[in-house]
Amino acid sequence: WPYFLAALIGGYLLGSIPFGLLITHAAGLGDIRSIGSGNIGTTNVLRTGKKSLAAATLLGDMLKGTAAVLIAWYWAGIDHAVIAGFGAFLGHIFPVWLKFRGGKGVATYIGILLGLFWPGALIFCAIWIYVAVFTRYSSFSALSASLAAPFVLAALGQWQFAELFALLTLLIWAKHHTNISRLIKGTEARIGAK
Ligand code: G3P
Repeated sequence: WPYFLAALIGGYLLGSIPFGLLITHAAGLGDIRSIGSGNIGTTNVLRTGKKSLAAATLLGDMLKGTAAVLIAWYWAGIDHAVIAGFGAFLGHIFPVWLKFRGGKGVATYIGILLGLFWPGALIFCAIWIYVAVFTRYSSFSALSASLAAPFVLAALGQWQFAELFALLTLLIWAKHHTNISRLIKGTEARIGAK
């Protein structure tokens, strides 16, 4: 079990790097947490109007999850990769550096899925894009894709991953509770809205 603990902690530390916060700060935009929804993720970085910074945030938050999984996989095997992925997700949404107030987990979820079972990540992105094209809600697209993902994994026979992602989906939904109430009230901001 010391290896499982190392995978969990290593994953957590990688996942806790708040790319959105660091990138916007480095670009001189101040604290992203005082802009828009206050979230440190891609959708909120996009609200600064800087698409390249949003793309860099998406890439960073995604690939830290992928890296955590792949490093653990090569180093100790698939079970450790699952634990490292879980750790990376916890690191992203509960980073010790930000008093445990991190992001909502969507990009990191995709990155972990990419590392563990890449077709799942493609399907997630396809659902996200499909819903976003019709609704223009980033949050609703993420809620839809994350709801579908564990079922898609189970349907494809990826049981060990379906369980992990069912847990991560619960966390995504919990982190989106303010988005969910705004969606219900009809006050959620659409992608591209100022
Ligand atoms: O992935 C985050 C997105 O679903 C919602 O972000 O900034 O609109 O709360 P935001």
